[in-house]
Parts: sequence; structure tokens; C-alpha cells
Amino acid sequence: MNAPANLFTDGKAYERLMGRWSQIAGAKFLDWLAPPKGLHWIDVGCGNGAFTEVLLARAAPAAVTGIDPSDGQIDYARTRPGTKLAQFRVGDAQALPFADNSFDAASMALVITFLSDPAKAAREMARVVKPGGIVATYMWEFPDGFPIRPLAAAMKSLGLGEPARPNVEASHRDAMQTYWRDAGLQAVDTTVIRIRVAFADFDDFWDSSTVPVGPSGKALADMMPATREQLKAKLREQLPIAPNGSIAYEAFANAVKGRVPANR
Ligand SMILES: C[S@@+](CC[C@H](N)C(=O)[O-])C[C@H]1O[C@@H](n2cnc3c(N)ncnc32)[C@H](O)[C@@H]1O
Repeated sequence: MNAPANLFTDGKAYERLMGRWSQIAGAKFLDWLAPPKGLHWIDVGCGNGAFTEVLLARAAPAAVTGIDPSDGQIDYARTRPGTKLAQFRVGDAQALPFADNSFDAASMALVITFLSDPAKAAREMARVVKPGGIVATYMWEFPDGFPIRPLAAAMKSLGLGEPARPNVEASHRDAMQTYWRDAGLQAVDTTVIRIRVAFADFDDFWDSSTVPVGPSGKALADMMPATREQLKAKLREQLPIAPNGSIAYEAFANAVKGRVPANR
């Protein structure tokens, strides 16, 4: 299994870090896909079920199967009130444990940069979806679209590193388009999803963005207290803090969709 799964071991922490941003962007992604009701979906890299919950609420699927390599994420996904109708199992996007033509549609939300072989994941989704079905993904654009980019920027300006994502370039629209076309998908189209990221105050930003999950969270967990204080000071300098203490800025994600050829 891929090493990056080790970045996401705690579904509750992931919820604090990314859950709400995932759900806001996920809703926009589904509005763009505008899928028919009653489909059988596979949600690849379902994580703690943040997007799966939105899928169930907005797309009225007949069934959803979520797969993710992280037990910790899946354990949390199973506890969500909105995912009772979904099935979850451990699995790898690059070797989906399903027969050809098993699903009507495949989604992969906020996963592609963590894959060592995104092209393989695109081919796998195309394989398990029936002819005519939808295959789609979206990912924050790195580095500028990421919801907690101020943290990454502050770490960088202090010379502090974080575990690398295997495929940052996969967050760009041209790369996504290439994976989709090379997987034999048709009617390939892309869009940009923009959301407003907002925090009540500095502590809200800090507490949410420094949970020990994901690349920056894992780096912070190993940081000396004095270095954490330096980072806090740098962030207070760099964040767009309004006079009332609140913080808001835009994040954006790229999305791609395509269809399995009807005559495959
Ligand atoms: C940023 S989270 C996204 C979770 C969820 N889809 C969402 O929208 O909130 C990235 C997820 O990708 C998963 N992941 C990492 N490597 C993977 C792989 N090879 N196959 C499938 N998922 C993988 C991680 O375990 C993690 O849950």
C-alpha cells in the first residue's frame, strides 16, 4: 500500500483540518457533474467520508462503495450520520478490488496528489465503471489553491519542510486532462471550483490547521515547541487578519470529468 496513506491515520483530526472545505467544494463538484439519480457509485480515496456524505445527500445514489487505504479514516467514515447507506472497505486507487464494469460512476475527491501513479488510478476507475458511466476527480491546486496554504507558506519562509506529496503536478488541470484522455475516457472536460475559507480568529486557524494529519500536520507533530512558536509568530505576520480578528481567503480546486466509451 502507498506510504502516503500513513499521512491520514485519524479521521477525526482530518475532519477538523479539511472536512468542511472538502464538503463545500464537494457540493460544487457534484453540481458541475449533475449526475442522474439512482447510480451505483464508487468513491475512491473516500477517507473519513466527508465527500461520501455529500454524494449521498446530493446525488441520491442507489448505492455507494467507498475505498481508502487508511483504516483510521474508514473507521470515522462509518460513524458519520450521513453515510449509513454506504459500504466502506480498505483498498488502493491504483489496484481497485472490483471486477470490470461494476459501477455506474466513479468519484475521487482530494486524492490525486497522494498517488504515485495517478494515470493508473484513472485507468482503474475507467475499468470498473460501465460503458457510458462518469469518471471524475477534483483536487486543490498546489500550491496556490490549497485551503491551508498560509501554513505551508509560513513553514517555507522559515525553512521548515513537510513530507512531500508524491504528485503535486497532478493537481493541475492539464495533467488531469491528460490522465483522463490517456485512460480512454471521452467527453473530457475540466472546471475550477472556488470556495471561501474562513476562520473565526487566529486560534481557530491554528487549532484547525495544525492537527496531526496530512503532510503539514505530520511535520508539526514532530516540531520542537520553540519552532512551533516561531511558526505562530510568522503566521500572525502573514495571515490576512481582519480588524475583528477573523481570517478569510479563497481556495480553489481543479476538476476533471469524462465518460467511459459506450462501445468499449
Ligand atoms: C485529503 S484525503 C481526501 C479524503 C476524502 N475523499 C475527502 O474528500 O475529504 C486523501 C485520502 O487519500 C487516501 N489515499 C492515499 N493513498 C491512496 C491510494 N493509493 N488509494 C486510495 N486512497 C488513497 C488517504 O488515505 C486519504 O484518506
